Amino acid sequence: MLKRFEDKEWQSSMKIRLDMNNMMAEFVGPHGITEEDIAGIQSKLDAAHQAMTLKRANGGMDFRDLPYVQDEIVDDIINYVASVKDKMDTFIVLGIGGSALGPIALQQAINHPYYNELPKEKRNGFPRIYVADNVDPERLTSLLDVIDLKTTLFNVVSKSGSTSETMSQFMIIKELLENELGKEEAREHIVCTTDASKGNLRPIAEQEGYKSFVIPDGVGGRFSELTPVGLLPAAMCGIDIEELLAGAAYMDSLCKDDNTFSNPAAIYAVLHYIAMQQGKNISIVMPYADALKFISDWYAQLWAESLGKKFNNEGEVVNVGQTPVRALGATDQHSQVQLYAEGPKDKVIVFLGVDKYKASIEIPKLYSDIPSLGFLGGTTHNQLIKTEQMATEYALLKAGQTNMTITLPEVNAFTIGQLLYLFETATGFAGELLNINAFDQPGVEEGKNATYAMFGRPGYEEKKAELDSRPEKRDKYII
Ligand code: PA5
Repeated sequence: MLKRFEDKEWQSSMKIRLDMNNMMAEFVGPHGITEEDIAGIQSKLDAAHQAMTLKRANGGMDFRDLPYVQDEIVDDIINYVASVKDKMDTFIVLGIGGSALGPIALQQAINHPYYNELPKEKRNGFPRIYVADNVDPERLTSLLDVIDLKTTLFNVVSKSGSTSETMSQFMIIKELLENELGKEEAREHIVCTTDASKGNLRPIAEQEGYKSFVIPDGVGGRFSELTPVGLLPAAMCGIDIEELLAGAAYMDSLCKDDNTFSNPAAIYAVLHYIAMQQGKNISIVMPYADALKFISDWYAQLWAESLGKKFNNEGEVVNVGQTPVRALGATDQHSQVQLYAEGPKDKVIVFLGVDKYKASIEIPKLYSDIPSLGFLGGTTHNQLIKTEQMATEYALLKAGQTNMTITLPEVNAFTIGQLLYLFETATGFAGELLNINAFDQPGVEEGKNATYAMFGRPGYEEKKAELDSRPEKRDKYII
C-alpha cells in the first residue's frame, strides 16, 4: 500500500527539514538554549524515549501505527468514494475540533486554493468540500443556501457520538434530507465516521443503514487525522491518501531514533520543553505559504489541548502549556511581527517554508526610474516571499527571539503526511517531558458538561446544581 515508502530517492528529495540554529544561544543570544541545557535533562530525555517506545508497544500511542494498519480501510474508502463521486456535487463534514481541523488543513494544503469554485471537471470529478464545525445558526443556514441537498453527501464525524454541535447538526440535516428526499433516498446522503462500538452514532448508523467508517479505539480526536476522520474527506476531494500515509510512515522511521538530535519529533519537543522552562509560554506557527495556513489551526488544537494541563501524572497542580498563535507570512509581517521582534521573550516561532511553490509569478519590469519600486521588476513573487521569510527570520534572530524553520521541499500528500506525523509525535514526546497526559482533555469536558447541565440533559442534575450555586453577576461590572 505505501507505494512511496520503498522509494528512497523520492523520500530524500521530499524529506522535510528542521533548522534549529536560531533556537540555540550561540546564535540567538542569552534567551536561547545551550547544548548544556539539553545535556542537563538527559535522564528526562532517556525516560521520554523509553516511554514513547513502551507506550507504543502497549497500545498507549495507537496513532503512531496508523500508517501501517489501515490497508482495508483505505481500500474501503477509495471504493466508497468511487461509488458516490459522480452522484454528489458537494461533500460536507459535520464535525468539530479534531473531527474538523485536520480535514480543513489537508484539503487547503493540497488542493487548488479555490477548489470549490472550480468546475467539476477541473476538480477531476470530485465534489466540492465544506466543513461545518460551528453551530452559529447563520453559518449553517447560509451553507444550505449554496448547496443542493439532492447532490450533497454529509459526513457526520464524532468519536464520542455525543458532541452537541455535531449531533445537533446531524439531527437538523437528517430531518431536512428525509423531508426533501424521503427516508430511503436520504440514507444515501449520510456517511458516519465514529467509534467501532461506543457512543450514540454507531447504533444510529446501524439502525438507519448508513454507510460508516471506524475511528480506531485508541486514537483520540486531535490525533485522528490519519484515520477515516481525515482520510475520507481527503479522498473525497481527490487527495492521494496512500501517499499521505506513506509520508507519515517515512516520518515515523525518522522519529524512532533514540538520538534526540536526529529525531525530528524529539528535538522539536525538547526545544519547546526547555523554552517552556525558560518561561516561553507562546508557540507561534507561521507558514510562508497560504497552502499551509490552516495547518496552524490544526496544530493550535493539537498543541493546546494536548499539553495545556492543570495536573501532572502524579496529580500535582502544574498548570503547564504553551498558548498557540496562528500567523501567516508575509501577511503578519504587517501585523504581529512587530510584537515578535520587540515584545517579551516569551515565544517560540516556528516558520513553515516551502522550497518549490506550485506556481510562479514574474513581476514585470516597470518603474525602473523609481528605485524603491524598480528593484522588484524582473524578480518573482516566489523570490519575494522566500526572501521575506529569510529576512523575518534574520530580524527575529537579531532581536534575540527564539525561532526555528521547518521546510517542505513542496506541499504534497507525502510532505503533509510527514508534517502531521511529526507534530503529533512531537506532541506525544512533549507530553512525556512535561509528565502530563497529552491524550485527555478534562478542561474541554468541563465545558461540555456545563452545556449539558444548562440544557437540562438527564444525568447532569448535580452539575446543574453546582452551576446554579455560582455567584450572581453584579450589575456594577456590566456597563
Ligand atoms: O481532540 C479532541 O478529543 C476533541 O477536540 C474532539 O475532537 C472534539 O471535542 C470532538 O469530539 P467528538 O469527535 O467526540 O465529537
